[in-house]
Amino acid sequence: MLSEMDQMKRAVGEEAAAYVKDGMKIGLGTGSTAYWLIRRLGERVKSGLNIEGIPSSAQTEQWAKEFGVPLTDFSRVKELDITIDGADEVDENLHLIKGGGAALFREKIIAQAANELIIIVDSSKMVTNLGKYPLPVEVLPFGWERTANEISMLGCVPNIRKKDGGNLITDNGNYILDCPFDAISDPARLNEEIRRIIGVVETGLFIGMADKILVGNGKEIKVIQKNKAV
Ligand code: 5RP
Repeated sequence: MLSEMDQMKRAVGEEAAAYVKDGMKIGLGTGSTAYWLIRRLGERVKSGLNIEGIPSSAQTEQWAKEFGVPLTDFSRVKELDITIDGADEVDENLHLIKGGGAALFREKIIAQAANELIIIVDSSKMVTNLGKYPLPVEVLPFGWERTANEISMLGCVPNIRKKDGGNLITDNGNYILDCPFDAISDPARLNEEIRRIIGVVETGLFIGMADKILVGNGKEIKVIQKNKAV
């Protein structure tokens, strides 16, 4: 039996699969909402849909293989038609915080490579200002303590993300610092300031990248387009 939250995730993930058309190259996001997308895409592939996806994490790659979604990579594909992915927060300007699943670096690559970025969330992810969710930042393991100290000068106390008693290691062999800024007044500026620090690989701030947000609220799925609400 799915929780109410998981039902919203399922509804929005499955709805997003309808945006995928025959022949498309797709960026496949990471997380529990993307799971439902990948599962539905697998069903559509079994019914004849011809697509190829690039996964944003080892977990997504595993699900794609399990559900029968054909995969490709950037040695064979220059750009993607659509990337569909979840998010941890979405603000009123459609800026995002991502990286709750530690996949932000590859997620940003597939987001940038896509002609259209569709974000799938339940309504709890919609916020007025970003920052309640601690901002994930991927950093090199070498000197991470120093990198964390540099980030702290920008107004937070970073926490190294843990897993199984040690530091979590991303699919790229790096660490994640979770940075609780509380309220981010200028996300674009903060993104640039963090990215300038040597040792930072990438931030979980996705600025001006999302084209469309599908929001599940339990009753319906609302579609928010860049620059206009429908
Ligand atoms: C992974 C992500 C996810 O998209 C984000 O954490 C949302 O996950 P979920 O759909 O499980 O709530 O950014 O790095």
